[in-house]
Amino acid sequence: EFIGKSYELPRYPTAGIRMILVYSLGGSVLASQDPAGLKRYAETLGAIASENQVYVVVGGGALARECIKRARGVGASEALCDSIGILATRMNATLLAAALAGSAPFRVPESYDDALEASKTHRIVVMGGVSPGQTTDAVAALIAEYARADLLVIATSVNGVYTSDPEKDPGAAKISKMSAEDLARMMSQLELKAGSRSPVDPLAAKIIERSLIPTVVVDGRDVANLIRAIDGTHNGTEIRS
Ligand code: UTP
Repeated sequence: EFIGKSYELPRYPTAGIRMILVYSLGGSVLASQDPAGLKRYAETLGAIASENQVYVVVGGGALARECIKRARGVGASEALCDSIGILATRMNATLLAAALAGSAPFRVPESYDDALEASKTHRIVVMGGVSPGQTTDAVAALIAEYARADLLVIATSVNGVYTSDPEKDPGAAKISKMSAEDLARMMSQLELKAGSRSPVDPLAAKIIERSLIPTVVVDGRDVANLIRAIDGTHNGTEIRS
């Protein structure tokens, strides 16, 4: 029973850190979790943070999509739809922070500066979106740049990057390894609209490409993949140059 348990993480966050890890955790992954499921994600992140500095950027999922749809319905601008999406991501992030029971700040950082600042006192920092025109994948890629992360894990509701959309094309094949350049080229062909869906946001792909951030895309719906992504036993997509 995890409820109410808080994790005993080292008091001095920089002591004994093996890696700096950034997770982009899809909102659709967390939205389907009951309280016990949320606690499993929190416990797994707590275990990972016992050796590593962890940033988790949480997506908006169905909550964001539903709110954006209604905002568009009343004539809101794309930027305003994005702002509403950001609020949904922060709501989901706060929910995960609550499940982490004090291991991450409850007040989720709203800027990159605040996230980096929070990492000085917490081994886990959970946040949502930051500014319009992007998704939480891009936030995660930028945090990875700022923090000089060793690995960016995109934990989403598909199990990797495919040669084409597997929902539309039965011949689509999963790519186990690809370069950042190929990822950026592939993702740039997808549309950038509030609430639009692609395995990796095109802006995030460009950032991964420019800084050659080692990245893995895994199915986040299986919580064990958060660990498999870092020990190399996952069966998602590896992006390395
Ligand atoms: P998400 O990152 O959740 O996008 O942000 P997504 O592609 O729907 O990902 P999943 O389904 O959770 O995996 C939700 C929306 O919030 C706005 C965008 O409109 C985005 O589509 N957003 C998010 C921003 O405008 N800026 C941000 O920094 C983050």
